[in-house]
Amino acid sequence: MKISVYHTPESTPDNCIPECAVVIDVLRATTTIVTALNNGAKSVKAFSDIDLLLAESDLLSSESRLRLGERGGKKVESCDLGNSPLDCSSDIVKDKQLFISTTNGTRSLQRVESAKTVIAGAIINYGAVVNYLKEHKPTTLWLLGSGWEGGYSLEDTVCAGAIASELVDFNDIDPIGNDEVVSAIALYLQWQDNLLDLFRLSSHGQRLLKLNLDDDLKYCAQKNIVSSVPMQTQKGILTI
Ligand code: MLT
Repeated sequence: MKISVYHTPESTPDNCIPECAVVIDVLRATTTIVTALNNGAKSVKAFSDIDLLLAESDLLSSESRLRLGERGGKKVESCDLGNSPLDCSSDIVKDKQLFISTTNGTRSLQRVESAKTVIAGAIINYGAVVNYLKEHKPTTLWLLGSGWEGGYSLEDTVCAGAIASELVDFNDIDPIGNDEVVSAIALYLQWQDNLLDLFRLSSHGQRLLKLNLDDDLKYCAQKNIVSSVPMQTQKGILTI
């Protein structure tokens, strides 16, 4: 397995796609997707364009769908919900088809949608993702963060580090595909017992705190409370 970490979709190499991509947007898109599917949502379809989301979801009855839209951390007015995992309880999402568009996370999903295997990873399910990867051993693996508008994010990198730390042994450099793998593991080893404080330090964490969303940060910082591994089953559509 050759593992590479990329901090954003923009930093991935052109004309290249891995066998397997784990898309990470800890605050909050992939945490929300994992939560919704674990709580019984039928599927989640990701869109980078909100108008496309509205047009496609219009084809379903309002009882069978839910539209989630976020820009700048805030709910998009024309949608039912924003991007808080805390809104995705089973009484709200069970048996619904979800349509989601967020500032960064859904663009990362789109960047790797032609990979053979696309997984949604977060701190809440990274152990299950590691188990899947150990069992299936893809030859090339990208741990792809979402960042913020093209820039680095601590929370996605620490999650990539959590996953990579269980797949890499520094006595065997063969699986290390780029320097970002080593730095992501170092970040994780430094903060593994204090993820919530790291999230509160991060620039997007600060943005969410200004919107009074500390409870979202607390939820997103919990390790392995979910054992589901959402995977892409059709382009842009994730299920468990
Ligand atoms: C994103 O895609 O940038 C995020 O998930 C933003 C958020 O809703 O916190």
